[in-house]
Amino acid sequence: MSIRTLDDLLAEGVSGRRVLVRADLNVPLDKQSGDITDDGRIRAVLPTLSALTGAGAKVVVCSHLGRPKGAPDPQFSLRPVAGRLGELLGAPVRFATDTVGESARSTVDALADGEVALLENLRFNSGETSKDEAERSAFADQLAAFGDAYVDDAFGAVHRKHASVHDVPARLPHVAGRLVLREVEVLSRLTGEPERPYVVVLGGSKVSDKLAVIEALLPTVDRLLIGGGMCFTFLKAQGHEVGSSLLEEEMVETCRNLLERSEGKIMLPVDVVAADAFAPDAAHDTVPADGIPSKRVGLDIGPETVAGFAAALKGARTIFWNGPMGVFEMPAFAHGTRGIAETIAKTDAFTVVGGGDSAAAVRALGLDESSFGHISTGGGASLEYLEGKTLPGIAALEN
Ligand code: 3PG
Ligand code: MG
Repeated sequence: MSIRTLDDLLAEGVSGRRVLVRADLNVPLDKQSGDITDDGRIRAVLPTLSALTGAGAKVVVCSHLGRPKGAPDPQFSLRPVAGRLGELLGAPVRFATDTVGESARSTVDALADGEVALLENLRFNSGETSKDEAERSAFADQLAAFGDAYVDDAFGAVHRKHASVHDVPARLPHVAGRLVLREVEVLSRLTGEPERPYVVVLGGSKVSDKLAVIEALLPTVDRLLIGGGMCFTFLKAQGHEVGSSLLEEEMVETCRNLLERSEGKIMLPVDVVAADAFAPDAAHDTVPADGIPSKRVGLDIGPETVAGFAAALKGARTIFWNGPMGVFEMPAFAHGTRGIAETIAKTDAFTVVGGGDSAAAVRALGLDESSFGHISTGGGASLEYLEGKTLPGIAALEN
């Protein structure tokens, strides 16, 4: 694998050059106020941006936010992100109100050496995500015109075959940014020869989303602990009734098959917190996993399960965790996720938290981020990496 890095680009000299940086600034926003509720992804790209501004580059940052449908949609504007990025960089960030139009052109033209501009949401343009090569290419041409070199630091989006990720690097000298490099370095430790025991904790709502990664991990892990909404389909596969808990009926047979093939590596909850409704103030109590009452919905793993999972995690040398153990956004159902997160934080293992919801959970629960080996900024991307899939954004950097 021969990927050129930011250091290679810096060694060439970037002073006065326009450097187009693809970042993943897809941060969660509060539905009411529009405020950024977790700026982890913005902070994660700062090392790359500071290195470039420090070296005198004209830095043009582009990103997606949410899933707008190929046209401008104010609720997905990157404007609040430009503000926060400026605060964190300690220097104003010029914001373009379009991605490749008049505003973008004049904003990029006005950049002085060492300054940063942020273009409006890439996905306000249908060319960004188009399956049509010609449409994607046309958009990639427009974007590439804003840079003399390209840096990919959008780890969370490397699994997308999108114009800014896959087609722009074919048009410009391209390198991997510090974040992409660190993510790949860490995740390759998991797919290589992880120190054993290697224990993986998976949660989240759907088995169907995690099926490929479970298949890929089963032969390599020593233990696979399963919680979150997806555990109920496994419990059903074991022959238990799950009440009105989340269930993917069409996956029950697949789960039964996985359990049979797992050589006892898969550990499931032995107790769950069952509520009479999916609501923060719902009446609830802890019940055995094989005795969930018919009208109850399981919203968290129970304390006995937390203790059992903790025992399995204690001696581990390598841990990967993706997906919350319960509905952690509701305090009554956050104990499982907190218990597992705190246990992982305390081990001496090399620990990796896989993006999205689990990274948000670590911060939302007020845990110390530095007590984890690495918190990935990629949810889907880190899972696809562990599945061994070719990631379009990484492949594009290798060429
Ligand atoms: C993410 O949040 O998973 C990344 O930013 C990618 O976003 P997407 O799943 O909408 O492509
Ligand atoms: Mg996603």
